[in-house]
Amino acid sequence: MNAKHTLPCTEAGEIIWDKALIERHALSGPRYTSYPTAPQFQKDFQESQILEALARSNRKGNNLSLYFHIPFCNTICYYCACNKIVTGDRSRAEIYLNKLYREIELKSAYLDKKRKVSQLHWGGGTPTYLNAQQICELMAVTRQHFNLVEEDKGEFSIEVHPGNIEDDLLKVLREQGFNRLSMGVQDFDPRTQKAVNRFNSFEQVEALTTQARDLKFHSVSMDLIYGLPFQTPQSMLQTLEKIVALSPDRISLFNYAHLPHLFKTQKQIDDNTLPSSEEKLEMFQQAIAYLCEADYLFIGMDHFAKQSDDLAVVQARGELKRNFQGYSTHGDCDLIAFGVSGISAIDNIYVQNCKQLDTYYAAIDSQHFPAESGISLNEDDRLRQHVINQLICHFKLEFTDIEKHFNIHFQHYFQAELRALKALEADGLIEISETGIKVSPQGRLLVRRVCMLFDAYLSRQPEIRYSQII
Ligand SMILES: C[S@@+](CC[C@H](N)C(=O)[O-])C[C@H]1O[C@@H](n2cnc3c(N)ncnc32)[C@H](O)[C@@H]1O
Ligand code: SF4
Repeated sequence: MNAKHTLPCTEAGEIIWDKALIERHALSGPRYTSYPTAPQFQKDFQESQILEALARSNRKGNNLSLYFHIPFCNTICYYCACNKIVTGDRSRAEIYLNKLYREIELKSAYLDKKRKVSQLHWGGGTPTYLNAQQICELMAVTRQHFNLVEEDKGEFSIEVHPGNIEDDLLKVLREQGFNRLSMGVQDFDPRTQKAVNRFNSFEQVEALTTQARDLKFHSVSMDLIYGLPFQTPQSMLQTLEKIVALSPDRISLFNYAHLPHLFKTQKQIDDNTLPSSEEKLEMFQQAIAYLCEADYLFIGMDHFAKQSDDLAVVQARGELKRNFQGYSTHGDCDLIAFGVSGISAIDNIYVQNCKQLDTYYAAIDSQHFPAESGISLNEDDRLRQHVINQLICHFKLEFTDIEKHFNIHFQHYFQAELRALKALEADGLIEISETGIKVSPQGRLLVRRVCMLFDAYLSRQPEIRYSQII
């Protein structure tokens, strides 16, 4: 592995892979899918706070983004860190859907019916655990209560498991208005697949991709993970070659988060089969180089996209946002989440639904919002949220932009942060000028490290464990 290597592949310019710098700064840290991050959400969040936020949101009248969490899976993948329920008992999905419909009724009653829904996402779990009839029914209930933009103008996406999807279901999804597909692929190597109990062949992924294109899905995205058992830089390259041959519009390459104390099924994975951190870094470096040569842009953190993809287009316009699904092209929408563990972002609040089915069901049965925790952002939170968003999505920020939005003097307000940033500047991660901050080509892979210095909560709770930055 080269100690220093230049990779010409972000919208903002090149990336320099600087191994020594990465090793020095690759701490663990938040992924900033929200700021403040989920550990800051408070348990005593009141229903009245949600109602007030919904009212403010209605007054704003911006478009909506809807998220539906379908937690069920047919089989367990040992590495999985998602909120899922593995069950062969299909009646559980029926019970769940009935509660979901009641949640839709409950929440939509407080939302102005005229507001357009320009984004919708079904995540999980595995949403295609639902059969065709259930899929149609859930979409019908959604359309009954919300004003979904028509004529394929919205961004309606769904996560699918290519090794585990019924024939013809894709056709049903397309007819129901879905136009973006996100497939979990993870890795094609048979030894790795066996070790994590996750099976999808190249042929299955290829067939699904072809079918999606025939059905005129606008975009196909694929998830991969590096750091899984038995993966080597060579085996990873073989998986990448197969992926690039299928030419997905987006690729997510996640760093395997191995936290067996939190995710019990990860105990099925023998630590001795995991690649070393040195090998993981090599895989990541190689993947970035390979994907950039194949004309993908490195959007940030773990996301790659073709230049023609909306993610790249919106980033080039300077309008990319971070949200709970990663990077979002619809950051201007308020996000309303349904289902167990779903997180909503409404006006200035984040609120998370109950993470367990029984508490979620009990709340719905008593006609209450199934909220478990939340946070109301104060002015300082919003300011820092904006700063972190600019850095993580665009690798730069301009002081005047922040000053215009928040009526502060940047250098005065962030005196302490700017002092701390000097150390990162000395190390070459960033450049600070009179007018702003730029993340340098060698700092772009470590942008979370820069964001962490603007996080007002991090130093107060050192006991919270986060995943590795890289
Ligand atoms: C809800 S799943 C995707 C849909 C579907 N259930 C599937 O597996 O194909 C979301 C994605 O999270 C990623 N993921 C799950 N557990 C992970 C972990 N421990 N570390 C990193 N990525 C993980 C996988 O890439 C997975 O595709
Ligand atoms: S990776 Fe997907 S299919 Fe596998 S257990 Fe997790 S949510 Fe279910």
